[in-house]
Amino acid sequence: MGLNEAKLAAAVAAFTLDTDELQAVAAAFRYDIERGLEGNTESTLPVLPAYLGLPTGEEQGEYLALDFGGTNVRVLRLRLLGHGNFTTLAKAAAPLRVSGQYDYTGSSATATELFDFIAGQVDAVLDGDHQTPYRLGHTFSFPSSQKDLRDARLLHWTKEFATSGVEGAYVNALLQEALLRRGIGNVQPTAVINDTVAVLLAAAYERGDTYIGSIYATGQNNCYLESYGEQRPAMILNMESGNFGKLLPNAYDLQLDAGSEKPGRQRLEKMVSGRYLGALFTLAMEDIQGRPLSSSFTSQDMAVLLSDAAAGAEALQRLFGISFSAAEAAALQPLAAAILRRSARLVAAAYTGILWHRAGSGPIVPQQIAIDGSVYEKMPLVQETLTQAMKELLAEDAAKVQLRLAAGGSGLGAALAAAMCKEQ
Ligand code: GLC
Repeated sequence: MGLNEAKLAAAVAAFTLDTDELQAVAAAFRYDIERGLEGNTESTLPVLPAYLGLPTGEEQGEYLALDFGGTNVRVLRLRLLGHGNFTTLAKAAAPLRVSGQYDYTGSSATATELFDFIAGQVDAVLDGDHQTPYRLGHTFSFPSSQKDLRDARLLHWTKEFATSGVEGAYVNALLQEALLRRGIGNVQPTAVINDTVAVLLAAAYERGDTYIGSIYATGQNNCYLESYGEQRPAMILNMESGNFGKLLPNAYDLQLDAGSEKPGRQRLEKMVSGRYLGALFTLAMEDIQGRPLSSSFTSQDMAVLLSDAAAGAEALQRLFGISFSAAEAAALQPLAAAILRRSARLVAAAYTGILWHRAGSGPIVPQQIAIDGSVYEKMPLVQETLTQAMKELLAEDAAKVQLRLAAGGSGLGAALAAAMCKEQ
């Protein structure tokens, strides 16, 4: 089909960030954390208190853990054994959207329908036991305001969720009502945490040198332990860093934002997370082709294209209905690579902003950053680009910071939050 090489090169350049630009993003990120902590509305970072510090490692007992925030809802029954150890006693999982069958994430679904569906998944791990009392920890991965650990009010949906009747409502109250409608009186939702907080709790349950938790998946967000300069007890803050907006968006970023559920919001997330990477690739392809395309690439399609040009040509053909040779698909690999590299570099800039803020005028202490999520775990180029960008930004201090995959932290973290709530 013949690619317009000049347009392709321009698109690759539009997704390329040099070290100076990256340093500026990291500095602006730190600035917004500090303004956000002062409650200054000029900050694009909400920094939402989680009403929790780090676990002691001594937490034990049997809990239910609900993980709600991405494509699937998952429920676990877990036994915490202390110091990073736990056993999974039962698990259930279901997609929130099955094309052509149901969709609990769209605006035509109601809060009642959504939470009834979730209550069904909770029921599945109870094995018919509606007697034994259980505390449930709820990992709810959307921006929420809390007055305590027990419940959280959804500020607004992100990640293109649009279910009606949930924005502004208390999510554990909605869950409790749905459980009761189903005859489940023995499960008490006692804690709500963000998924980044869950990842941090899970990693810190095992080892103490973790202060930053991160999700790099459908959405991208970070939390960290704020020490408040010893004026008051340390607390984990959910940064909602996907909302960071002091960036240099290119034409595709602007186009994607304008066509999204919430224009103007989640500007960083729309440049980095799995929900949007394929859409950015598609917008660039439309520009290169000079015409609209009927469907959209996903981040998985980008992974296929990057690992195998022939398979990538098939994916391009299937989605866009245009025939591509393997050589043409190979010529598009630098575009997919540039989008992924920019994503990882921007995430590294956010990590650096947090490290700088935590260090203040002192040195960065040796530590690990706990990261969970499919983009970090599975996408080509992401891990090595992140590590490289941390070196670019932190120079010799980069050796003090270990990026660690903390897979499955959402469930464990929710159970820990339920246990920590009991202890409060
Ligand atoms: C979105 C949500 C945030 C969540 C992240 C990862 O950014 O707003 O709360 O942590 O996705 O799931």
